[in-house]
Amino acid sequence: MKILNIVGARPNFMKMAPIVRAMNAFPDELNHLLVHTGQHYDAQMSDAFFDDLDMPRPDVDLGVGSGSHAQQTARIMMAFEETCLREKPDLVVVVGDVNSTMACTITAKKLGIKVAHVEAGLRSGDMTMPEELNRLCTDVICDFHFTTDEMASENLRREGIDPDRIHFVGNVMIDTLLAFRQKADALDTVSKMELTPGAYSVLTLHRPSNVDDRDTLAGIIDALDEITASMPVIFPAHPRTRQMIEKFDLQDRFNWDGPPKGIRICDPLGYLEMLDVNANAKMVLTDSGGLQEETTVLGVPCITLRFNTERPITLSQGTNQLVGNDPTAIRQAITSVVTASEQNHSIPEKWDGRAAERITDIIRTAAH
Ligand code: UD1
Repeated sequence: MKILNIVGARPNFMKMAPIVRAMNAFPDELNHLLVHTGQHYDAQMSDAFFDDLDMPRPDVDLGVGSGSHAQQTARIMMAFEETCLREKPDLVVVVGDVNSTMACTITAKKLGIKVAHVEAGLRSGDMTMPEELNRLCTDVICDFHFTTDEMASENLRREGIDPDRIHFVGNVMIDTLLAFRQKADALDTVSKMELTPGAYSVLTLHRPSNVDDRDTLAGIIDALDEITASMPVIFPAHPRTRQMIEKFDLQDRFNWDGPPKGIRICDPLGYLEMLDVNANAKMVLTDSGGLQEETTVLGVPCITLRFNTERPITLSQGTNQLVGNDPTAIRQAITSVVTASEQNHSIPEKWDGRAAERITDIIRTAAH
């Protein structure tokens, strides 16, 4: 069976790495190539992850780069169509919810090629999020729906997806976290960054709803004085967030160099560095999807700076709380974490490091 595995943006790499590894165990059955759309292209947003995750370099690099949603999506579709016509795969595997996920799905399906979606069925219900549109478009036409939890499977059944196509396999991102936890620990990024375990917090922000409006971004930053009075906040800034900070002239709210103090802004961290920094943090404040899941497994309190989440299991079972971006609500949430005793949380079913093996088994069985 010939397979094209697709990656495009930063959160895709850690999801695809264990799938590639699991497929490598069956060289006689699975002939798979790694295709990078090039949606993310900076060394820190892309290359660093291949090194950190021991992932082979992509076999095909479409090099599409940034652009408006339509431009980026269209460029991926045009370039990927040529790849499909040349390589003639039997199956395309996509992960997550980025533009590359949707663009490659539509392209493959229109050529009559089957598609497997890893992380299917997640729903925020927020139709203003580009990721929600990507999830819906992908799931309605793909052939294999691999889900991280039963809530996601239920969403798909409710939308009328054939139950035979829905496979609850667990969470591939957690496969990677568990596989690389020790390696991350050994690098000891926390000490190298002059941080004390449990005595700093982490911030990540990149959603347009948080960073594209000056008052919203400034309000989030101001609310962090609730933390910075007693501990530093480490802020690895996404390129688009950094551009907005400069555009809105908010540079003076951050500590740009030297020892951690106030909000210490830095370049995006590699996978292993970020894992160690998150694992030892007092709390994580974020608008990312993946970090909500990672903090749940690490047992670190997570304050999600969004009004909805496509990952509600991290609220019901994990360490996550949904706070939004109102400064008063953020301050209250910070206080609740600082004053709380040990949080009760559990690790969701099948977030056990074996999701990619389950996916590979199902694909192999289907090939016979
Ligand atoms: C994308 C995903 C989002 C994911 C995020 C993780 C979509 C719709 N969104 O958002 O779901 O959470 O990745 O990072 O696919 N840029 C660079 N260098 C890079 C990549 C981006 O400078 O390597 C800058 C460019 O100015 C670009 C902007 O960041 O225009 C946004 O990049 P884009 O890929 O459009 O979306 P993200 O915001 O990264």
